[in-house]
Amino acid sequence: MVASVLLPFLLAAVVVAQDPCTVLAGKKWAAPAEVRACYQSFAVDEAEKSNILEVMNKTINFHTSTNYQIRAPQPYADQVHENLYTDIARIGASSYASDYEMHIDMSRTYKRLQDGHCVWINYCYDSAWINYLPTPLSLITDNYGKQSVHIAYEAFKVASAVNGTLEGLSGAKVLSIDGKDPQVAIDANAKITGSYQAWGTRQNSFFASYQRAASTWNYILGNFAQQSLPLADSVTLKIVRVNATKPETVTLPYRSRIGAIASFTDGPSYRAANCKADEGTNGVDVYATSGDTVTDPTFKAQGIPLPKERPHKQLVNILLDDTPATDVVLPPTLAPANPIAGGFEVAQFYMLDDGKTGVFALGSFSASDYLPFLQSMLDGLTKLKEQGATQLVVDVSNNGGGYICAAHWLHRIIAGSKPSTVPQAGLDTIARSGTLAKLITEQIVKNNKDPSHFLLYNPVNWHNATQQIIPADVNWLVVGGVNKTINGHKDAFSQRLGEECTDADYPAGAPEAGLFDPKKVVIVTNGRCASSCSLFSITMHKLEGSKTVVLGGKADVQQEFCGVVGGQSTDFSTMDTEIKSTGLKDHELAPPDLVVNGVHGITWRLGYGIEKKNEPEEWQEHRADGNLAITPELANNPTAIWKTVAKKYLH
Ligand SMILES: *[C@@H]1O[C@H](CO)[C@@H](O)[C@H](O)[C@H]1NC(C)=O
Ligand SMILES: *[C@@H]1O[C@H](CO)[C@@H](O)[C@H](O)[C@H]1NC(C)=O
Ligand SMILES: *[C@@H]1O[C@H](CO)[C@@H](O)[C@H](O)[C@H]1NC(C)=O
Ligand SMILES: *[C@@H]1O[C@H](CO)[C@@H](O)[C@H](O)[C@H]1NC(C)=O
Ligand SMILES: *[C@@H]1O[C@H](CO)[C@@H](O)[C@H](O)[C@H]1NC(C)=O
Repeated sequence: MVASVLLPFLLAAVVVAQDPCTVLAGKKWAAPAEVRACYQSFAVDEAEKSNILEVMNKTINFHTSTNYQIRAPQPYADQVHENLYTDIARIGASSYASDYEMHIDMSRTYKRLQDGHCVWINYCYDSAWINYLPTPLSLITDNYGKQSVHIAYEAFKVASAVNGTLEGLSGAKVLSIDGKDPQVAIDANAKITGSYQAWGTRQNSFFASYQRAASTWNYILGNFAQQSLPLADSVTLKIVRVNATKPETVTLPYRSRIGAIASFTDGPSYRAANCKADEGTNGVDVYATSGDTVTDPTFKAQGIPLPKERPHKQLVNILLDDTPATDVVLPPTLAPANPIAGGFEVAQFYMLDDGKTGVFALGSFSASDYLPFLQSMLDGLTKLKEQGATQLVVDVSNNGGGYICAAHWLHRIIAGSKPSTVPQAGLDTIARSGTLAKLITEQIVKNNKDPSHFLLYNPVNWHNATQQIIPADVNWLVVGGVNKTINGHKDAFSQRLGEECTDADYPAGAPEAGLFDPKKVVIVTNGRCASSCSLFSITMHKLEGSKTVVLGGKADVQQEFCGVVGGQSTDFSTMDTEIKSTGLKDHELAPPDLVVNGVHGITWRLGYGIEKKNEPEEWQEHRADGNLAITPELANNPTAIWKTVAKKYLH
């Protein structure tokens, strides 16, 4: 009996200590209650609290979507309706039993934006200890089209990584979770998980899925089996095992595993080592340091991390998540075999045995080395063609974005060189034109504060809407800027920007003719395709007619093939670098240095739409052409999925 096997661990957890953090010292695994007790022993530090709130309050002036998110345009108005300014005031006026409780409120407040670019993550807590349950779930469709929740068929095979389960549970049908219909737990999670606007996509976050990672095929446990905070201690499931008929009830404990944090012996040393501002938390004056390479504090929250040290102005669009990927790998029986030589990290190529379908598995638009990554896209797709591929499946499951120009490059080489793809197939964008943003730009254009063109607000780094470089003396936030009233609030944006990728951002040798007929391309995802992945899939779908298929979403809920479009994402530290480098740190609108180990993501440029050209693409519809029913044979089996997709959606 499962419960009795695992129960001793729970009982062993009840140890009373004066400083609850000492219990955790030196441990790899702990009970969630022990981690919680440690976190809850930290009282709110009023100075830290006001510091965080002031950083938030001033950073959201750079986030393009703050006023839109008070009530998002349709079809997302029901999903996104959060006013961060009133939230910050509310949190300021609230008292909390502990710093941990305050963090949960701050984190969930940002998550209600349903925007994986605009997040508050505090590494003192988020994924410092990761809460695991050894039974990830799948949403399975039977032969009659009926969907039900099952413990993942591969649960036993992946469980060694997350501390044990019993073989007999794999594949069991789940009748109830904590005494309620599983749908209750799925929807409760969809309300708090954040990251994606669409309800269906947030439901999908509950379940296990896969991702092509840099060196392996990874297994994503899903929100049921992996939590960034020690929220749950155990779960009681009513199940029916495979081939059985009698329901049984099992209670399974969550276990907390230590994340990538510094060692400690007690509460004070935990806080000193893990909760204070770290390298990269705050920006730097690039002219007072060794140049424009800065440390990116958000790398820990990137599914597939970009290089931690990057040129300040390198353009990326990437989702941040407080539950980043872990080291759990897809079991060898499920991992795709025989990739074609020449793939690079997250970019891998396969030929299906029908002799005509090539597969490009692309788990991210991030890689350790930019140009070789782009070159491998060209080489791999060319090899697929040489092997006879006339049609293409692009699997971008859990692709949370990365380099913007990598997305445009991929579009261009698939669809060929033409006016809509040269130099890029991107969206026009706008930046927010707040008072401080305008002053930063003013310092650059009037007072030559960025002679080396390192900064994002430097006009010469951008093309205008008719694709000409903006002159050095033009404050592009003012000249050609647009005023809007959004949800009753006056707002201001820059002039419309055009292309951002130039030939210098691409390897040589882009083919004139497209490598594939875009109509014979199917983009496959579990809906969790964001940022640069959205830029790629939206333009391929809306401009070129490529098909899109979502894997295994709920049949009665509209499925979106991507979400969180943005345009260019960044964070507080990057804005702080712009401020410090232009000598404006003492301005009353400048956020202070953050004193805690937190990151605050934002959307810095927002992409305009393809269908509604003067409205952000962010809140336009991205309805998938198909929702592939996941059977036991297809569940988390990429090769089986690709074969089925090729048969069903390509001919
Ligand atoms: C946040 O900023 C607004 C102005 O944008 C100001 O009125 C308000 O007092 C600030 N709130 C906090 C908590 O700092
Ligand atoms: C699972 O957790 C228990 C209790 O913390 C620990 O003793 C054991 O070593 C762990 N097992 C694995 C496989 O890590
Ligand atoms: C369930 O029954 C089928 C058909 O008899 C068998 O092939 C399969 O191995 C069984 N599975 C389990 C887990 O017992
Ligand atoms: C872009 O810049 C050029 C040169 O400064 C100018 O002639 C053109 O009107 C600008 N286009 C727009 C849309 O502002
Ligand atoms: C936008 O508003 C600002 C401040 O009210 C004003 O100075 C500017 O002229 C306006 N711009 C346009 C294009 O109307």
